[in-house]
Amino acid sequence: DKNGYDHYMLKEIHEQPQAVAQTINGRLDLELGKINIDNYGISNINLKEIDRIQIIACGTSFYAGSLARYFIEKFTKIPVEVELASESRYRTSTVNSRTLSIAVSQSGETIDTLQAIKFSKENGAQTLAIVNVPGSTIAHNCHDESLIYAGPEVGVASTKAFSAQVSSLIILGLALAQEQKKLSSEKITECIDELVKVPSLLEKTLTLSSYIEKISKKFYKASSILFIGRGQQWFVAMEGALKLKELSYIHAEGYAAGELKHGPIALIDENLWVVCLAPKDSYYEKTISNIEEIRARGGKILSVGTEGDEDLKSISDEFIGVVECSEIILPFLTAVPMHLLSYWIAVKKGTDVDQPRNLAKSVTVE
Ligand code: M6R
Repeated sequence: DKNGYDHYMLKEIHEQPQAVAQTINGRLDLELGKINIDNYGISNINLKEIDRIQIIACGTSFYAGSLARYFIEKFTKIPVEVELASESRYRTSTVNSRTLSIAVSQSGETIDTLQAIKFSKENGAQTLAIVNVPGSTIAHNCHDESLIYAGPEVGVASTKAFSAQVSSLIILGLALAQEQKKLSSEKITECIDELVKVPSLLEKTLTLSSYIEKISKKFYKASSILFIGRGQQWFVAMEGALKLKELSYIHAEGYAAGELKHGPIALIDENLWVVCLAPKDSYYEKTISNIEEIRARGGKILSVGTEGDEDLKSISDEFIGVVECSEIILPFLTAVPMHLLSYWIAVKKGTDVDQPRNLAKSVTVE
């Protein structure tokens, strides 16, 4: 049931506020400023003993993990590696019983992720499945299972699962910090207070849909689009590029903004659009100088920044603004225009939005 939407994907983009609310629901104790670890699904793993984290995933789930890494390391000071499931078994395993290996998978059936998490378990790691589908194969093979409760995701392009996965991993980071006493309860309370704002701010951000539909006309004939960002926004850029490729078959690449001058800047000319993620965060100034470099070479700029940022607007050809908010909330909001942009470009191109060519919702072959 598409609930009145033209496509499942659009419906699922619009279900993000609900998806995040369901993920955080019952796991955050607002009164005590604590994470409810039992409700999170951890009962066999002892979080106090963890001194290293490995996140294993594919595609969008890999980007959710890569993005959340910044928060987990910040809260816990525990080193986090994020590994592509399909590659992780080709390296010598160095995990041990103090390593928490996390399989992040919407479907819980992705064969690469399943094999990789089994490999970590065999080598002695504590394994946790963060999945959307209850009773999945990946969950069966892990010590603990934590559901994201995003609700069924039908569109092949993952959207609401992404934001639910990011929120789940942030909660896990807070849970680890709480158990290992790495953050004060005041600090945890502060983070909880931010997280609970995400659903309503997502709701607000979704109102950008008709504006994005309008500007998508400018991009649907492009043969290639670059996406750049720094820090967490690097992985929002990666997610934006993946979605565009999947849905509209337009070549796209996501790049860390600082890497531009190490090669890809050679691509820039007056025909190339660059989607620049530059909201007001700790890396803002540096990203702005990258945008200026692109502009100086004639590249066309679609920036995604903070509402009312006239400086950024003045150096952009197109501008999409999200509300000013804290760094925990930002990546949730900037991901929305990524999903909507690829959706509307695909609609304009007339591709099969919910079932793009050559793709399957869960990839069960290696
Ligand atoms: O079910 P999973 O989260 O394990 O799936 C992983 C990827 O196959 C998936 O995210 C894929 O990249 C999506 N089609 C992206 O939109």
